[in-house]
Amino acid sequence: MTLINPQPSFHALIPAAGSGSRMGSELPKQYIDLLGRPVIRHTLDALLAVGALSRVWVVLAPDDAHWTNYQWPSDPRITVLRCGGATRAESVANALQDVAKQTDPATWMLVHDAARACVSPQLVARMIEELSDDPVGGLLAVPVADTLKRAGDDGRVAQTIPRAGLWQAQTPQMFRLGMLREALAAHPDVTDEAGAIEACGLSPRLIASDATNFKVTFPDDLAMAARLLSSAAELQK
Ligand code: CTP
Ligand code: MG
Repeated sequence: MTLINPQPSFHALIPAAGSGSRMGSELPKQYIDLLGRPVIRHTLDALLAVGALSRVWVVLAPDDAHWTNYQWPSDPRITVLRCGGATRAESVANALQDVAKQTDPATWMLVHDAARACVSPQLVARMIEELSDDPVGGLLAVPVADTLKRAGDDGRVAQTIPRAGLWQAQTPQMFRLGMLREALAAHPDVTDEAGAIEACGLSPRLIASDATNFKVTFPDDLAMAARLLSSAAELQK
């Protein structure tokens, strides 16, 4: 008897175990208020709006005292893991160990920063469509628009970097669970999932995104995120 190989599933994994040091707030930035809800609630809602995603894993710091202070959507796809580590890569790697205990290694994992609260569900759906047959996987990214300068120690320009061919990496970053787990275990010092895959000699595909999927990092970013989310909500009406 031949077993029919089922179509692979798509899961989101949201690292949310950071402290948000650049935000300079006592409250970790994923919980800061944005239009009356914590930042991560917007991120979660956007991913839950993607029908192809059958699970959404949220990765918290083991000592997170905030998550339980809020009401969350009662969507059975959400699972909270309290296994965040000292770095983002460690949080993701720890979570993948837990996920792997109950998930097929061929499952596509879309790792998405909790702090990218303005991500568009349509763009995530398009990414899934474009990458589901890809042998490696890929990431959302934006071509660099500005000329880049490398600064010297004296605060003066030491070098101009040609921007041709340069992209800014965003998330989601989408790779198969088995491949991503091995890549992060072998290369724990990377700053994103694609970096670990590249270090294994593979080339992730770039999927064109736009600046609205920026990462809420500094205090001024909150007003920008609020404007983008309000206008997206207006357009929905
Ligand atoms: N993150 C994580 N575990 C860490 C560090 C970061 O899960 N040890 C998560 C953050 O919660 C965030 C995402 O990774 O959703 C992207 O990281 P970043 O924007 O750098 O967030 P922070 O590390 O919290 O902020 P900062 O670098 O300013 O301290
Ligand atoms: Mg950080």
